Amino acid sequence: MSFPESFMQELKLRNDISDVVSSYVSLKRAGRNMVGLCPFHGEKTPSFTVYPESGSFFCFGCETGGDVITFIMKQENLDYAEAVRFLAQRVGLDVPEGGFDDSMSRLRMRVYEANREAARYFYSALYSPGGRAGLDYFYSRALSDRTIRHFGLGYADDNWTSLCSHLKSKDFSESELVAANLAVRRRDGNGIYDRFTSRVMFPIIDLRGNVIAFGGRILTDEKPKYLNTSDTPVFKKSANLFSLNNAKNSGTRTLILCEGYMDVIAVCQAGIPNAVATLGTALTAEQAMLMKRYSDEVILCYDSDEAGQRATSRAIPILRNAGLNVRVLTIPNGKDPDEFIRSREADGPAAFRALLEKSGNDVEYRLQKLKQNYNTDLPEGRVGYLEEASKILAAIDSPIERDIYASRLCKEFELDKGAFAKQLEKLDKSRFRENRKQENRKLQNEISGRNDKINSDHYKKPRSSSAEEALVIYLINNPDSCSEIQREIKPEQFKNSLMRRFYEYFSERIQNGLDPTTSIAGDFSSDEVSKLYQLQSRMSSVAATESSMREYIKVINEESRRLSKDEIATMSPEALSDYLKTIRMNRQ
Ligand code: GTP
Ligand code: MN
Repeated sequence: MSFPESFMQELKLRNDISDVVSSYVSLKRAGRNMVGLCPFHGEKTPSFTVYPESGSFFCFGCETGGDVITFIMKQENLDYAEAVRFLAQRVGLDVPEGGFDDSMSRLRMRVYEANREAARYFYSALYSPGGRAGLDYFYSRALSDRTIRHFGLGYADDNWTSLCSHLKSKDFSESELVAANLAVRRRDGNGIYDRFTSRVMFPIIDLRGNVIAFGGRILTDEKPKYLNTSDTPVFKKSANLFSLNNAKNSGTRTLILCEGYMDVIAVCQAGIPNAVATLGTALTAEQAMLMKRYSDEVILCYDSDEAGQRATSRAIPILRNAGLNVRVLTIPNGKDPDEFIRSREADGPAAFRALLEKSGNDVEYRLQKLKQNYNTDLPEGRVGYLEEASKILAAIDSPIERDIYASRLCKEFELDKGAFAKQLEKLDKSRFRENRKQENRKLQNEISGRNDKINSDHYKKPRSSSAEEALVIYLINNPDSCSEIQREIKPEQFKNSLMRRFYEYFSERIQNGLDPTTSIAGDFSSDEVSKLYQLQSRMSSVAATESSMREYIKVINEESRRLSKDEIATMSPEALSDYLKTIRMNRQ
């Protein structure tokens, strides 16, 4: 089931892909196409290409591709039906009711509603007599009522069914509450109970203002200290950040990345609204890309204990790879931002601001960490430190930035600049060689299709697959040749299973007078869609002529007559002799 064809055509017609993409990515014209920096992976030179003529995009760096609907699904983190609605709303188009089997979208909608109602419930519980313990806890951590309201904080009481009963009275079903991870099913299968009890509650809100999850902190020293919503249909821990909804409107292109909820809230209460936190896990590349959308620079502000410092070292390359500048704020005396601000009482905000201003960039931070491992009073300590330090500098892309640090180090250790530059040059060359080796390996794997999990048949059957891929692309680009191709090639002749599915799908649509790709994002997985547009961007020019089409047909026919080793092994001598004859004939 799907949306009506005419609606989908109208939707795609009105949502021109370059317009839609341009509101997220700054695009430059390149011949008939447009290029920009890919929003789905970190890059410094543009490999993200939009093809206005075919209404598609493809990134040559991360190999993500698709149509305008795929783009919105990925960019806005929506499922197919939601992305269609989003684009319909964008151009003021009414979405036809019914028809589409969107039980998943409906469930997501219900989970959002349940979460919103739960957040309201927790908030009002905090200010009810039963919530005194929670409110006192927040007061004891120096939060004001205004801050509590701003973040929509709340309280889950010690009764195991109070939230469940409340939400059931609002017509939410047990399975909806379990899907939202607000409730847990009893072991014996009889009913459900609240997931969060005796905790102060922190709602996690996405960029469209939906409550997508909660964190809950226990008021005592019991474990676990924090309990977070598990992944649900609307929440993926590794792809969201606490308080990004506030931080993105701060008017700066800088974000402050903290470890915990309380740090973000304390920093915000100190008048600095652009702090975010990961949700109890190590920083992911996905989160870094999300930050890159709203900032150019991230100030790492993790706890100054050892775990925090290790997390800092791990986060630096992830942020850098997303194309972000990185600075590191170091808090004195092993504190976290919240403890630091509170320890200074009235001076807290100003003292924290001073730390922010003083925060050096990641190179300074790494050099300083490194130096702690060497006794630079001794010559061998100096040699060791400088050798390792030059590796850090050699990895910096900008020559100007590299030169600044080189000069500083030379000055600090009274070194000859020329000698140090030589050392850097040497490292640079070996880095260049190593990069090239890696690129080559990647290219070779790509050509052989060895690592291609989506189109795994390509590697096993390269000759037939190449022809089948090319024929599928030819078919999309030349729908009028469909009947001719269908006369020559039956789907069963395809040896590559993904290509066979594409072939069946496109030829059926074309036969029914439909545009082949209008609903592709709804009918195939996003990896399969990416694969299709990868082939499209690679092959459109190669697969353009009628004579090349005949060549593909010939190869597919030949290959489909070829039997497998097993089949040959069990053949009668007569059958084998016939088989060899047909193969020889085909060769001529
Ligand atoms: P406070 O003690 O309330 O100040 O919290 P904190 O933010 O200082 O806590 P900590 O540095 O221990 O943890 C940082 C973040 O890690 C928290 O905000 C949580 O997101 C997460 N976290 C901490 N403890 C747990 C836990 O027991 N379970 C889970 N899932 N996450 C935790
Ligand atoms: Mn803390």
